[in-house]
Amino acid sequence: MRSTGTYAASTTLGESVQAFVPHALPPAKPALAPESFVEANRAAELALARLSGVAGLVPSVDWLLYSAIRKEALLTSQIEGTQATLADLFDEEAGFAVNNTDDVEEVTNYLRAFRLVQSQLRDPAGLPLSVRLLCDAHRLLLDGARGNGKQPGELRRSQNWIGGTRPGNAVFVPPPPERVPALLADLERFIHNTDNGSQPLPPLVKTALVHLQFETIHPFLDGNGRIGRLLIAALLEHWGLLPEPLMYLSGYLKQHQFEYYRRLSNVRTEGDWEGWVAFFLEGVATAAHDAERNIVAIATLLATDRRSLLAAPKAGPSSYRLFEMLPMMPRFTIDQVRQKLATSFPTATAAVKVLEDLGIVTELTGQKKNRSYSYAAYIALLSAV
Ligand SMILES: Nc1ncnc2c1ncn2[C@@H]1O[C@H](COP(=O)(O)OP(=O)(O)OP(=O)(O)O)[C@@H](O)[C@H]1O
Ligand SMILES: [Mg+2]
Repeated sequence: MRSTGTYAASTTLGESVQAFVPHALPPAKPALAPESFVEANRAAELALARLSGVAGLVPSVDWLLYSAIRKEALLTSQIEGTQATLADLFDEEAGFAVNNTDDVEEVTNYLRAFRLVQSQLRDPAGLPLSVRLLCDAHRLLLDGARGNGKQPGELRRSQNWIGGTRPGNAVFVPPPPERVPALLADLERFIHNTDNGSQPLPPLVKTALVHLQFETIHPFLDGNGRIGRLLIAALLEHWGLLPEPLMYLSGYLKQHQFEYYRRLSNVRTEGDWEGWVAFFLEGVATAAHDAERNIVAIATLLATDRRSLLAAPKAGPSSYRLFEMLPMMPRFTIDQVRQKLATSFPTATAAVKVLEDLGIVTELTGQKKNRSYSYAAYIALLSAV
């Protein structure tokens, strides 16, 4: 078996424990066996290329991205235990009252963190993919009530552990805090090193290794899973595997959460990098296929509803314009329609009525005043993983 790392004595809560310090990437002696990933890597790359291609079929990718990014934000937060739903998120954005305020905040924090990373990477003068950028993202992710006391934006200064009630019976004790900066510097080097020796690893395989190593280092007091999964999305873009974040890999990781954690552990305990990489590549292929199918289903729904609108005698310009806005405004009030269409209240009301009579949108409150509407079929399709 390969050596996977070393152990260092560390103390926490007055207990002394053996903390695990992983070797720098890539796995060596022996190197990753190409036959273990070549096929699966090709399939996963193909699935990503197809996904990018399908996105090209729709007239605007804005609404695809709008929904895909929110889905990933939601699912990655659900792995952590957040209870918010996609409808909660849309309600919050429409300014409606939501129940799970804290949970929704956690999801919107992820969205802010993701946007920060994306804009920095796309800006030629922005930060590169680096520890500094991940810390900035972490600050946004843990902003607010829940992050209090979790040192948002900072690498941990104390020993942490995973699983178990105390460090002594933990499943896993990550490296001592004083080792974290150097381990992350190694990881940064691995990401940016274009010369990977005689056997260059494909970018998806490197992405799998980076996520694994990040989780093993566990550099923050909380939010390691979410920042580590954000790192996956960032790398897919950085390495040109998926030019736009259309995939929500967290759906797969959530569905296979037990195996996800077990595979991470098995690298440390058994040197099974191949098993983790295979699991990850399978996840990418599956998630990309799911996203592709979902895009086709949504595009079909929109085409069907658009056809019925075009055939409706009462439909006018405002109802057409409203319909085209729905994918990025699936929950709304009449007043929001009035503002977006820069029109009068009666015109906005009439536009909504056309869509309501066609059964495209439904009213939610049952009240006479302050009515709010939902494009429910669309939200239902988005919510299906
Ligand atoms: N045995 C393990 N070895 C290494 N990493 C693990 C192990 N088990 C879980 N992890 C990683 O640690 C993450 C949990 O860490 P943490 O609570 O800091 O992150 P989070 O973002 O708050 O929560 P979550 O990841 O549950 O969403 C998991 O999502 C997973 O990525
Ligand atoms: Mg957590």
